[in-house]
Amino acid sequence: MRQFLDLADFSREQVLDLLALARRLEREPQPTALAGRVLGLLFMNPSLRTLASFQAAMGRLGGSAFAITPGSGSWQLETQHGAIMDSGAAEHVREGLPVLGSYCDALGIRLFAEGKDLESDLSEQRFRTLAGLVDVPLINLESAVNHPCQALADWKTLDELAVPAHGKFVLSWAYHPRPLPLAVPAAVLHMAAMRGMRVTVLRPEGFALPSELMDKARRAAAAAGGAIEESCEPHAALADADVAYVKEWSSTAHYGDAAGDAAARARHADWCVNEQWFAAAHGGCRLMHCLPVRRNVAVADELLDGPRAAVLRQAYNRLPVQMAILHRLLQGTTQ
Ligand code: CP
Repeated sequence: MRQFLDLADFSREQVLDLLALARRLEREPQPTALAGRVLGLLFMNPSLRTLASFQAAMGRLGGSAFAITPGSGSWQLETQHGAIMDSGAAEHVREGLPVLGSYCDALGIRLFAEGKDLESDLSEQRFRTLAGLVDVPLINLESAVNHPCQALADWKTLDELAVPAHGKFVLSWAYHPRPLPLAVPAAVLHMAAMRGMRVTVLRPEGFALPSELMDKARRAAAAAGGAIEESCEPHAALADADVAYVKEWSSTAHYGDAAGDAAARARHADWCVNEQWFAAAHGGCRLMHCLPVRRNVAVADELLDGPRAAVLRQAYNRLPVQMAILHRLLQGTTQ
């Protein structure tokens, strides 16, 4: 494996193989497998889970990691080509990225969507530009429309919860006071499709996921024996659901239009998921969310603190699946 950028780059068998390795590393720790190897982590945006779990994963495999958060203890990095750098940023990524790459055996990059132009964000051009500046194996720590490490951890969580391979998976929009990116819903949609699930994307009008992402997921679902539909009705969508995966995202109908997006979200401020949403689901239907989550804004306390919640298991699973990714990327390569 040379890079880990998108779950869609892998066959279903390769994903199952990675998950098997993650389970094996949990059962049989390999504390020296990556001795002497170094992982670099570049966070252009904040993190708790991704930052901590990748450092922990390298430590548990005998390697080490450094983390760079530009503008917070290290130089602000300019990403625009041709920029006249007479303000905040002291260094350009064209120098900064190759320098970081020269210190490590693999590099993870987090770079969120700009949120201005949907086509541009869908193209992942900004992430690709950074990726093109280094020649070590790369890991996507969350880009404009992808978060493959989260998706892989969520697949493992679904397996542990004994959610049937063709079970009903509802990916539900929820309110958030700020416009959030499409990365998690896009990655999780694709994961559930690849797993062969019957997926319903539940969202208000104006929040449909882009057709490019839906079509990509539909192809994956068809190949795995699953299906994808859409709904605007929480109670109908959650009927007989096995999982409600809640996530907040910005209005795609008003992408890049701050005022339009804010108004669209404000109209659905009551989309705070609570126990009432599960009236038509069965008792074992689980609640998933990638975290961080705003309590009583996106999801009610009663759910997060109740028996449906699998959110802490999801967060924990970031560790073993990322150990598997690092193992595949770095074990066996020359130092
Ligand atoms: N779910 C997730 O990626 O969390 P962080 O943003 O805290 O890394």
